[in-house]
Parts: sequence; C-alpha cells; structure tokens
Amino acid sequence: AFDVECRASGITVRVPPGVSVLDALEEAGGVIVNSSCRDGVCGTCETGVLAGDPDHRDTVLDDAERAAGEVMMVCVSRSIGPRLVLDI
Ligand code: FES
Repeated sequence: AFDVECRASGITVRVPPGVSVLDALEEAGGVIVNSSCRDGVCGTCETGVLAGDPDHRDTVLDDAERAAGEVMMVCVSRSIGPRLVLDI
C-alpha cells in the first residue's frame, strides 16, 4: 500500500494492493479525475506528479516521459515508494 497526497485538494488517500489510484481517489471523494478507458491506454487520466516515483504501468507514456516522472496515468500506474504527491 502507499499514500497519495492530492496537494491542490488537501486530501491524502491510502491505496491498498489491488486497488487503483483512480478507484481510491473516487472512493475517497473530494477530487475529480477524468477517466475513460481505465486501462492505461487512452491518456485521459494523466495527472501531474509533484513528488515521489511513479510505477508506470500504462502504454501512453514514452520512455523519456516515464523517466521524467512528471505525469502518470492514475488508472493503472502505482508508486514505487511509500508516497506520491499529485497535482490535483
Ligand atoms: Fe485511459 Fe487512464 S483512463 S489511461
């Protein structure tokens, strides 16, 4: 599990194994993330990353974007470390 802090919204959500960041955020409420495919292929849920290391599991970003770690697809991607800070 890891924590996702939504800096602009002022909420922090715990993401358990087997639950997507997107689902955890939707369940918590208080933050809106647009989504479409929910399978890491469309790019709709792209979200800015302010801190932490995303574990990219989408097929949208290229290698340079993955390495930069400035955005992530929250429908499928997770966190390598214990905490991510998102720009939402
Ligand atoms: Fe399509 Fe996340 S909703 S990539």
